[in-house]
Amino acid sequence: MLSGRRILLIISGGIAAYKSLELIRRLRERGAAVRCIMTAAAQQFVTPLAVSALAAEKAYTDLWSLTDESEMGHLRLAQEADLVVVAPATADLLARMAMGLADDLASTALLATDKPILVAPAMNVRMWQHPATQENVARLDARGVRRIGPNAGPLAEGESGMGRLAEPLEIVAAIEAFFAGSGRLKGRRALVTSGPTHEPIDPVRYIANRSSGKQGHAIAAALAGLGAETVLVSGPSREPDPPSVRTVHVETARDMLAACEAALPVDVAVCAAAVADWRVAAAAEQKLKKDAGAPPALVLAENPDILKTLSAAGPNRPKLVIGFAAETEHVVRHAEEKRRRKGCDWILANDVSPQSGTFGGDCNTIHLVDGAAVEDWPPLSKRAVAERLAKRIAAYFAEGGGR
Ligand code: CTP
Repeated sequence: MLSGRRILLIISGGIAAYKSLELIRRLRERGAAVRCIMTAAAQQFVTPLAVSALAAEKAYTDLWSLTDESEMGHLRLAQEADLVVVAPATADLLARMAMGLADDLASTALLATDKPILVAPAMNVRMWQHPATQENVARLDARGVRRIGPNAGPLAEGESGMGRLAEPLEIVAAIEAFFAGSGRLKGRRALVTSGPTHEPIDPVRYIANRSSGKQGHAIAAALAGLGAETVLVSGPSREPDPPSVRTVHVETARDMLAACEAALPVDVAVCAAAVADWRVAAAAEQKLKKDAGAPPALVLAENPDILKTLSAAGPNRPKLVIGFAAETEHVVRHAEEKRRRKGCDWILANDVSPQSGTFGGDCNTIHLVDGAAVEDWPPLSKRAVAERLAKRIAAYFAEGGGR
């Protein structure tokens, strides 16, 4: 059942667009609220009238319509959904999604949403097999966009091959599976650290690092997306607080540790923060003045290791403690040594060597090291890493891990 679920259905223009009418009907039968956006090409195949009659809501078609924008702006369309479904997704719309174009209502909503997206491609077999389409699909996969189909079979033009839109009931099943999975961590408590820490030198200066907090925030969002009650302890970061997550903002490593300890007990802790290894032993209470003589010499003291402390938290130890490691050589061996040294259960080793091809890019190449085995993940965006990790954690608990 899909009662209470809000689905934004984006219909792009291929002959398979007629199947979207059946899809809307099936989704509504199961209790979902379906709101639709149609591209200009989609309207050549099915009419907004038919779509709105089945959805029981107006079909949105125009980015430039003052009426549409005042009733339901493109940003609200993008946000007021639990899942965005693109069916059919043409080669053209997939390409525009991969490029991040925003030149009509459908592509703008797709760029403006931070909700999960499921695409159901449909096109001619040669268009599907074209390297451009395959590259676009690989890019969307790496970004964590979910996909169903295309299926193999007879195509509209009398040809046969990969390119058929998945059947409406298959798409419905994928949507139901998505929502069923979305409760897999219900009843679990999760703690995530994220961002850098700032270690004061005096009231106006501090030692920091370049961590953005993107990975930790994405992990907190993914865990909450699977239903975990999630606390995010974040150092200073520009990332917005993720929805459905309790975010605690801290500055220093010691504040971060205190906030983490206050969040215990939890089932799982993921330490993704780039915690400063050292702080200034005695930060000045007043601003240091440059005319006070020689430049000041900073004496550093070691900061607490949050991952190590949580891993040794006695009866309060989370059932699963996960850390990160950035390595440039002997990635797995170094990560395993780090795992043992810190006492955590899993290390996500990020290969940042120049050969990995991910250095400085948007993708991470992760090896999950758990003491018994190593899982090599393909290059994935930070969001896709977060989603894969959240699913891996859910599978661990489902298989009875942590008891
Ligand atoms: N970590 C922590 N508290 C610290 C330092 C690190 O919780 N004071 C956690 C990080 O969040 C991360 C892991 O420990 O999960 C990283 O370990 P670290 O020893 O800092 O490894 P690297 O950053 O890879 O550095 P190094 O080159 O020293 O191995």
